[in-house]
Amino acid sequence: MPFCTDRDCTAESCDCGFFTDEGSQLRRLVDGDRGVLDPEEIAFIILEPVQGEGGYRIPSQSFGDEIAALADEYDITLMADEIQSGLSRTGKRWGADHYSFEPDVIAAAKALRVGATISTDEIFPDQKSRLSSTWGAGDILAALQGALTIDAIEEHDLRVNARTRGEQFLDRLAGLAADFEAITDVRGLGLMLAVEFDTKADRDAVQKAALQRGLLTLGCGHSVLRLLPPLDVTEREVHLSCDLLADSLADVFGAS
Ligand SMILES: Cc1ncc(COP(=O)(O)O)c(C=O)c1O
Repeated sequence: MPFCTDRDCTAESCDCGFFTDEGSQLRRLVDGDRGVLDPEEIAFIILEPVQGEGGYRIPSQSFGDEIAALADEYDITLMADEIQSGLSRTGKRWGADHYSFEPDVIAAAKALRVGATISTDEIFPDQKSRLSSTWGAGDILAALQGALTIDAIEEHDLRVNARTRGEQFLDRLAGLAADFEAITDVRGLGLMLAVEFDTKADRDAVQKAALQRGLLTLGCGHSVLRLLPPLDVTEREVHLSCDLLADSLADVFGAS
């Protein structure tokens, strides 16, 4: 399915390809008359509430509402891949918490230090060893690190910090977007932040310049630079990193 790429899109205004004149592409797929899939035979819908590698794409509320409506109408299990968007990165515990759909299963990892499959009682297998991870290096120490990470997030109010510092970041990034034409979009939810460039070459050049100045960033999507500060990032660190990014942009495109 095409993923919603326009955070403000509605069924009427959509030009991201998910919504059609007669509903959504997903609805069409399971439609009794025109669809090609029998909803009874669908094992699950899986999605990233906010796309990571795909380009830090934040879908619209309408997209989320349609997923919720379809999962509910046809009783389809909903799985959320929260491996990048989860664990408070977006300012809420799960990326899905920004939307109306309610996942039955959540996959978490990365910041948790260990891979975890979380699900409702009805879905979780009764049999022992149906879920295991001997080849994935999951172990008791990693599990403990995960548990302590969750404790630290709660104890230090890091979701609040992610939201506050995320807004500070976005403010600065909007200023940079106004100064540099090569930036076509800046977006973010909490501390899942992205700067999109005209071309991949521009993105790569800025990423390299930033690294030379000591600012570590990552690419994603086609021409997107992602910024993933730690959840306990401070106001000063946000300033410093935005200054470094501004200098890197000036290195590549000339002073604004
Ligand atoms: C959103 C997301 N899901 C899942 C994974 C893990 O994939 P795998 O275990 O297949 O490497 C990653 C890894 O980067 C990811 O970013």
